[in-house]
Amino acid sequence: MAILIKGGTVVLTSMIAPFDVLIDEGLIVATGFDMDPSDHDVVYDARGLLVMPGFVDMHTHFDLPVGDFRSSDDFDNGSAAALAGGTTTFVDYISPSREQDPLDAIQEWFEKGKTSRTDFSFHLTLTDASERSLLAMEKAVALGIRGFKVFQAYPDRLMMSSREIERVMAKAASLGATIFVHSEEGELIERLRQGEHKAGNRAPIYHSLTRPSSSEGRAAREILELVHRTRCTTVIVHISASEVLEVLCDAARLGLPLYGETCPQYLWLNSRFLEAPWPQAAGYVCSPPLRTLPHLDRLWDALLSGVVQFVSTDHCPFTPAQRTAAGMDFTKIPNGLPGVEFRFPLMHTGAIEGRRFGLTRLVQLLSTNPAKICGLYPKKGTLMPGADADLVIWDPEGVTSLNDSDQISRCGYSPYEGMMVQGSMLAVFSRGQLVFDGENVACEPGRGEFVPRRAVSQKLLKTLRLEDYPWAFCR
Ligand code: URP
Ligand code: ZN
Ligand code: ZN
Repeated sequence: MAILIKGGTVVLTSMIAPFDVLIDEGLIVATGFDMDPSDHDVVYDARGLLVMPGFVDMHTHFDLPVGDFRSSDDFDNGSAAALAGGTTTFVDYISPSREQDPLDAIQEWFEKGKTSRTDFSFHLTLTDASERSLLAMEKAVALGIRGFKVFQAYPDRLMMSSREIERVMAKAASLGATIFVHSEEGELIERLRQGEHKAGNRAPIYHSLTRPSSSEGRAAREILELVHRTRCTTVIVHISASEVLEVLCDAARLGLPLYGETCPQYLWLNSRFLEAPWPQAAGYVCSPPLRTLPHLDRLWDALLSGVVQFVSTDHCPFTPAQRTAAGMDFTKIPNGLPGVEFRFPLMHTGAIEGRRFGLTRLVQLLSTNPAKICGLYPKKGTLMPGADADLVIWDPEGVTSLNDSDQISRCGYSPYEGMMVQGSMLAVFSRGQLVFDGENVACEPGRGEFVPRRAVSQKLLKTLRLEDYPWAFCR
C-alpha cells in the first residue's frame, strides 16, 4: 500500500523543506515537491504539521532487575510509551548480574523483545573483563549487538578497574564495536555514602551530595586516556556534569573517537528537586545525580555546539512504592527516572520554545546521530529513499500534558507533573504502519523487530561532530 504524506514541513538532518513523502512496502520511496496524490492508495494531509524521521532512543532499561525490583515498564508497555513519544526504535541494555553468564542474559533479553510493539536493538552490559566476557563480546557482535556498557561506578555490583576497561575497549576496537561508559568514581562515592550514612544522613539530597560533579569529570578523563591508548569508539552516557564537557572538548581537539550523551532530566531538572520532602524527593534519584543550574546551562550549550551528540532517555522507571519499599534511606532507593514518552516534548520545548537551537539539530540529536553511532543508519534515523518508513508527525499548535495521568508508562508518577508544553504528537508511523494516532497506540505487542547493528565507519562518525561550533564552546 502506497501512502503519500502531503503538504507537511519535512525536517531532515541538514534542512527543512516543504516536501511530500512517499512510502511504499514499509520504506521511504521518495521525498520531493508537489507529488501527484491521485496515484496513491492513501494520502495523509500534513499541511501545517512537522514531519520528522522516527526518533531513536539508544538508552532504555525495560524490565530491568535491580535488587528486589524490576523497572516498572516491560517491553510491551515501554514500547507503547516510546511510540506515543515518537520513538520508533529503542536500544535496550541487556544487563546480566555478575554471577550470570552474559550469553544467558542475551537469550533472556531476546525473549523479552518478543513483546515489543516497535523495532529495537541491544547493547550488552559487561561486569568484568574475563575470558568469558571477551568471548561473549564476540558472540554478541555475531548476533548484531555491537555496543557494550562498562561501569566505573557501583563497586558492589558492576564496577570495573581501568585496567579491565582498557582490556574490554581493546577487544571492542578489534571487533568494530562501541563502548558506552557510566563515568563516576565508584570507590570515592562509596566512601562518601558510607560516611553520610554513619552520620545518620538519609535524605535523598545526600544522593547528590555524595556523587560530586568533579568525580564524574575525573572518571571521564580516565576514559579519554583509555580511548587515546585503544582508539576504541566510546560514548560517555547520561552526562550530567559540566566537567565532562571539558573532557569531550579535549577529545575533539585531539581527534579521538570519544562522544557524549545526555538526557532530558539533566537538562530540565536540578538538585533542588532532591530537597523536597519524602516521598517526592525519592522520585528524583538517578545516577549520575541531578546537578545545580550552571551545569544545565552548560549542557544545553554543548548540544548546540556539537560537543554532546546524543540525547537519550535512560528510561529506568521505578514506582513511588518501589522507591520507598526499603525505608526512608537514600542508599536504598533504586536509581533511575522515566523519560521514554516525554523526550521529544521536553527537547522541543527547551530547544525551540527556549530559542536555543533549531529543528534540524533536534533531529540530529534524537534520531540521526543515535542511529549512526548504533550502526542502525541509514535504515533508521533518516527519511532518505530506502530507509524504513518510520515517521513522526507533530502538530505545533497542539498541547501536551506531562502529567502522570496522561502517560502510558507504569511509573506511577511524573517528574514533570504540572507541565503543559506547546505542540503534540499527531501520528507516528513505523515501517509504514500507523502505530500511534495521536491518542492511542494502534499496534499489537510483538510487531517490533530486532534490528542487528552494523559496524560504524570512522567516516560516518566524523559527521557526528559539527565543523565550526565546538571551538566557540571549547575555549
Ligand atoms: O540511575 C540510573 N541511571 N539508572 C539506570 C542505570 C544506569 O546507570 O544507566
Ligand atoms: Zn549508567
Ligand atoms: Zn542507563
